[in-house]
Amino acid sequence: MTRQALALLSALFFGLLFIPKESLAKGPLKDPLKFSIPLKVKEYLPYQRVARCSAINRSEIGDSATVQLQYVHIVNPNATRTLLLVHGWPGLWSTWSNQIAHFASSYSLIVPTLRGFGSSTHAGDVQNSGAVQEHTEDLACILREAGVSSATCVGHDWGAQVCWESARARPDLIEAVSGIAVPYLPSAGPFLPIEDIVTFFPHLGYQVYFANDTQGAVEELDASVQRSLRSVMRSVDSPPPPDFLVSQDDFLGAWQNFSIIPEIPFLSREEEAYLVDQFSIQGFDYTLEFYTNPNRLSYYNFVQAQGNFTIPQPALHIAPTDDPVADWIAASNILNSASFIPLLKTETIATAHWPHLERPEEFNQILEKWLNNSLKEPAQLETSKETAVPQITAEAKSEEPIVSEVRAKSTISGA
Ligand SMILES: *[C@@H]1O[C@H](CO)[C@@H](O)[C@H](O)[C@H]1NC(C)=O
Ligand SMILES: *[C@@H]1O[C@H](CO)[C@@H](O)[C@H](O)[C@H]1NC(C)=O
Ligand SMILES: *[C@@H]1O[C@H](CO)[C@@H](O)[C@H](O)[C@H]1NC(C)=O
Ligand SMILES: *[C@@H]1O[C@H](CO)[C@@H](O)[C@H](O)[C@H]1NC(C)=O
Ligand SMILES: *[C@@H]1O[C@H](CO)[C@@H](O)[C@H](O)[C@H]1NC(C)=O
Ligand SMILES: *[C@@H]1O[C@H](CO)[C@@H](O)[C@H](O)[C@H]1NC(C)=O
Repeated sequence: MTRQALALLSALFFGLLFIPKESLAKGPLKDPLKFSIPLKVKEYLPYQRVARCSAINRSEIGDSATVQLQYVHIVNPNATRTLLLVHGWPGLWSTWSNQIAHFASSYSLIVPTLRGFGSSTHAGDVQNSGAVQEHTEDLACILREAGVSSATCVGHDWGAQVCWESARARPDLIEAVSGIAVPYLPSAGPFLPIEDIVTFFPHLGYQVYFANDTQGAVEELDASVQRSLRSVMRSVDSPPPPDFLVSQDDFLGAWQNFSIIPEIPFLSREEEAYLVDQFSIQGFDYTLEFYTNPNRLSYYNFVQAQGNFTIPQPALHIAPTDDPVADWIAASNILNSASFIPLLKTETIATAHWPHLERPEEFNQILEKWLNNSLKEPAQLETSKETAVPQITAEAKSEEPIVSEVRAKSTISGA
């Protein structure tokens, strides 16, 4: 009860503090080139929008529900392309601050906060609602609400898998895809329970814990949101203890001798505080949706039923070389990811798990070079110019077609 009351209080408090009502208005967007670097979170607030998207709450009979998904939308009137930047676990739109600052001068940007994270609501059931294919539906809904007909999906960690899946399932919407850290995890072979995967990658032990004892993990993570975030957002120069992520019974045990975990090395205090505040709104409850066995199985069954596993779009895997979670190049080889992606390019970067935060300039160059080479089709650029420049007239649009389309898709995936 106390925790619930606290969550409500902080939702009200931080909701008011960080999402002023006028920032949710659908009025004209401001000039995207007035950002200061590094990020001052408040400067982005006028660009925040909320998409109301259809979902299913499967905790009992599978009620239809609505999720309210927050996203930052920056329209560059000179740009012909949109980048969709998708965070992973733990994450939030604001973890893309370095990319927003860099790419806003040449692209339009849509930067969502996934359902169940921060201020984006959830359908209400962490075990069965919020599988990867449902995040694809959420992204499709956001693009529709934003009036954007196609985008390049760039995702980190679980956001990478959401982008790979979005490219596979929605080639009509996703024209190119880049996954950071996590390679494409194809569902072509037999279903692999996490207990089997962890024998190859011992530092995925925490995923067994999250799946096996989701509620216990949530309580442990929520006990100190700041400590939990700090434990996992580390760099090469400020690493976690070697055994971190190995335990299948707890998350923070490897940090037990640190009364204070050092600040997140690649965020300003303001950014860290914003992340902590936003995660405190709902706690970690729904964010563990990616790890639960029912959601993993539901995603696998969804892709198996569709029966196609290839990603035909231009694709870039950016693999950090010193990620304590896993050797992602080895993972990609074991999973045979490249054989499903004919246009795949792979780049490595000497960072831990968060290259876009740890070495932002180098990361931005890698991504920009690939974007330049992969998306340069002058003829297509010219013809797509009119439709690619989104006009924000959402209040004039009917919501109904979006809702019914997404609802129909949710039903298909609601195995
Ligand atoms: C768009 O291009 C015009 C003309 O080159 C320039 O004056 C303006 O600053 C550009 N706007 C943005 C947002 O890049
Ligand atoms: C989901 O459904 C359960 C059972 O009907 C209900 O208790 C819960 O409040 C619902 N959650 C949301 C977010 O709608
Ligand atoms: C995969 O199959 C689905 C369902 O038929 C389809 O909508 C999608 O476009 C296909 N993906 C590709 C890349 O062809
Ligand atoms: C969770 O882990 C415990 C201890 O390893 C084990 O006894 C139990 O069977 C597991 N439960 C599930 C649902 O996997
Ligand atoms: C913490 O310190 C104690 C005492 O030195 C030691 O026994 C224990 O192994 C340490 N725990 C970890 C996780 O390193
Ligand atoms: C990408 O193209 C733009 C526009 O031509 C150019 O200014 C930029 O230097 C290129 N970036 C890279 C990394 O090649």
